[in-house]
Amino acid sequence: MAVLSKQVAVPKSGFSPIPVIDMSEPESKHALVKACEDFGFFKVINHGISAELVSVLEHETVEFFSLPKSEKTLVAGYPFGYGNSNIGRNGDVGWVEYLLMNANLDSGSGPLFPSLLKSPGNFRNALEEYKTSVRKMTCDVLEMITDGLGIKPRNTLSKLVSDQNTDSILRLNHYPPCPLINKKTNGGKNVIGFGEHTDPQIISVLRSNNTSGLQINLTDGSWVAVPPDHSSFFFNVGDSLQVMTNGRFKSVRHRVLANGDKSRVSMIYFAGPSLTQRIAPLTCLMDNEDEMLYEEFTWSEYRNSAYNSRLSDNRLQQFERKTTHDNTLLND
Ligand code: OGA
Ligand code: NI
Repeated sequence: MAVLSKQVAVPKSGFSPIPVIDMSEPESKHALVKACEDFGFFKVINHGISAELVSVLEHETVEFFSLPKSEKTLVAGYPFGYGNSNIGRNGDVGWVEYLLMNANLDSGSGPLFPSLLKSPGNFRNALEEYKTSVRKMTCDVLEMITDGLGIKPRNTLSKLVSDQNTDSILRLNHYPPCPLINKKTNGGKNVIGFGEHTDPQIISVLRSNNTSGLQINLTDGSWVAVPPDHSSFFFNVGDSLQVMTNGRFKSVRHRVLANGDKSRVSMIYFAGPSLTQRIAPLTCLMDNEDEMLYEEFTWSEYRNSAYNSRLSDNRLQQFERKTTHDNTLLND
């Protein structure tokens, strides 16, 4: 069996044993559930997404970011469009530039690339094909998860992100080599590429080139480097899935550190539900004596509150419910 999800102590320094999920092996569903519980993070292999498609999209992405800044800023915008250094509108900055796009199936790529690129059609086509393939893989992963959890029907989770009108996003990030890191004065310090945060959606799917930088935060608070692997996809549980599993799955805190020598290019598909979707713990996952840990909210409410917060904020905190246990303590 090709499933690797080891429960071993993670060294404080060095690389962690990131769970690896083989999509061609149906029994991976158990390792998948365990990875979502223990880490909120896993790597997917044998995913069936064409290496050629991914490399064309990476090539077009690099072309885009190689344009002069004056041209890239022609497509600057909020929430969608080009951005540089500033992440969101609440003061977060990082050593990163990015292009953020709506990934609804029927959204097209909009008027984002008017006449900037040599071949805008290639970029557009690669984006469309990529969104379709990654969305399909995401649904397959969510169906394996529901199977692993023993929930019926199988599409309980995947249907949230498979409709035409779901609020999914595609983000292309470029982290240029950071000259500060090689300067003696700053040699030993971390330079933040993308500050620590959790992703608010259901689940996120990341693919990067072979430049390191991504780190995840373990439950003991330590940061572990994720060895890059350009042929695999990395999934992380989002806040909404943490809520739907009543805290059983962990929305993993992660960040990117800048690299002194090489540029990092990543593409992240954030699978989100429709704006009106209600997010609440699934009753089929709860035992009678379990208490709901979160107040119910709609995705639109949560998205707004995430847009209005800082990256590192614990955005779920305001939706946590006071449990009977808390009340007992208060009354003491
Ligand atoms: C993000 C993110 C990681 C990366 O955009 O939410 O976590 O490697 N990015 O760019
Ligand atoms: Ni993220």
